[in-house]
Amino acid sequence: MVEWWRDAVIYQIYPRSFQDSDGDGIGDLKGITQRLDHVAGLGVDAIWLSPIFTSPMKDMGYDVSDYTDIDPLFGTLADFDALVARAHELGLKVIIDQVISHSSDKHPWFAESRQSRDNPRADWYVWADPNPDGTPPNNWPSVFGGPAWEWEPRRRQYYLHNFLIEQPDLNMHNPAVQDTLLETMRFWLERGVDGFRLDTVNYYFHDAQLRDNPPNPDHTGPETYGFQRHVHSKNRPENIGFLKRMRALTDEYDARMMVGEVGDGGQTAIDIMAEYTAGNDRLHMCYSFEMLSPEFTAAHFRRCIEGVQKGAPDGHSCWSFSNHDVIRHVTRWQDHAGNPDALARQAAAMLLSFPGTICLYQGEELGQTETELVYEELTDPPALRFWPEVRGRDGCRTPMVWDADAPNAGFTTADPWLPVKAPQASRAVTIQQADNDSVLAAYRAILSFRKSQPALRWGQTEFPDLPEPVLAFRRTHEGTSLTCVFNLSASPEQLTVTGDTVLSGPSHASLSAGRLVLPANGFAWLSGNIDLQA
Ligand code: GLC
Ligand code: MG
Repeated sequence: MVEWWRDAVIYQIYPRSFQDSDGDGIGDLKGITQRLDHVAGLGVDAIWLSPIFTSPMKDMGYDVSDYTDIDPLFGTLADFDALVARAHELGLKVIIDQVISHSSDKHPWFAESRQSRDNPRADWYVWADPNPDGTPPNNWPSVFGGPAWEWEPRRRQYYLHNFLIEQPDLNMHNPAVQDTLLETMRFWLERGVDGFRLDTVNYYFHDAQLRDNPPNPDHTGPETYGFQRHVHSKNRPENIGFLKRMRALTDEYDARMMVGEVGDGGQTAIDIMAEYTAGNDRLHMCYSFEMLSPEFTAAHFRRCIEGVQKGAPDGHSCWSFSNHDVIRHVTRWQDHAGNPDALARQAAAMLLSFPGTICLYQGEELGQTETELVYEELTDPPALRFWPEVRGRDGCRTPMVWDADAPNAGFTTADPWLPVKAPQASRAVTIQQADNDSVLAAYRAILSFRKSQPALRWGQTEFPDLPEPVLAFRRTHEGTSLTCVFNLSASPEQLTVTGDTVLSGPSHASLSAGRLVLPANGFAWLSGNIDLQA
């Protein structure tokens, strides 16, 4: 039997913004449980919950201060168990977010570690002496701006933080740290979770010699982080050994999986995805930010898919177009679209035809757009620090919109932690539910089509050479082929088709006398073994 995760569609839930059940303006576990029918009704296989653990919320839960408890904002362990039970009843697997590259500075481990150079946890974080002139030990920057080093007067040393000052990096070179983190993962496996999303999996290890990173001459953006090639602060070869330990742990249990988040760009990201998923003893799959980027060309999507295939023929990718860290794709790619709904439908058709596992982000099934916020509404630290050049991630994290007629579109009866604005509320589930032509209806139809097509679920993938703006690839499984064609532009395109074929599924195109006509952002699935020409 093929493992369930290989062709799975995972729906990412951002707990703060899914459904508030207790009237505090913040989404919670009980709220998620109430809304699981919507998720199951889409026809997806699993949910991924962004962090729900005890946290001071400096980075909205990506700063954990207790790895084996639920933050009171979200509920209790009993609420979590009820959520898992309901999800399983509905046939949904549950994946939780493990943020173990760093903890919160309020974690008791760090509170102890920072006290002195000789306490029992002195070596649990990455500590280094200053240079003779008092400056940090090397040139490593933080992803969120400024140096990756923060001074601790009690130890007269610096500690490493790849992200916020409040997110000190755990020292994975220390076997006791590895053992303890693996035990926290066991805690959740025993509680019945089906898998883990591994936050910043390529940041786990740092160069033990703390060598300077070399410059990256190509950088032009407003962030300081891009000025270097991060060869010593992340992507370290030592990581593979730890990934194997994690795999051995999850393999002790039935049918569990891990998806690693590779925080990097370009060819490096693709190479790491391949390296971390090659063979059967590392991660089950990885995702990177390559398809979460502004690029929207056939060549780019082909490069991503072929890159992982070539880098690791037995590796496995997980692709997504949106998540809680990037501008929603309907807004990000709007320059390539006739209208937002056409783009949203095409994105669904394209993403759900890609090989591997697929991640959808809450609200994308509504064709949701990025929320425009003003400075006073922001919560995301990098945006608060570098506004307006850095817009931050709040605009993709605003609440889910359920009911057009209810306050805050049904998300909460209180003041929501981020606002629900009119353009977003106009896409509420209640409105789209009643409309057979809605983006929501298209997602359901395409998800169900994908389920019905073994070629889309497990097929090999080959790309014919066609000029932009057409992306085409053939998926083949056990002798049955389906050719997937997408017009990545706002003007119509035509192709010549040779061979016996029919348009399949919810295609948005027309075919007659060997001419395939794709409207703006059109898409087609063509049966059989055919040839395409521009
Ligand atoms: C990942 C998360 C992001 C978080 C960062 C630090 O990239 O997706 O939201 O800020 O890691 O944990
Ligand atoms: Mg609440």
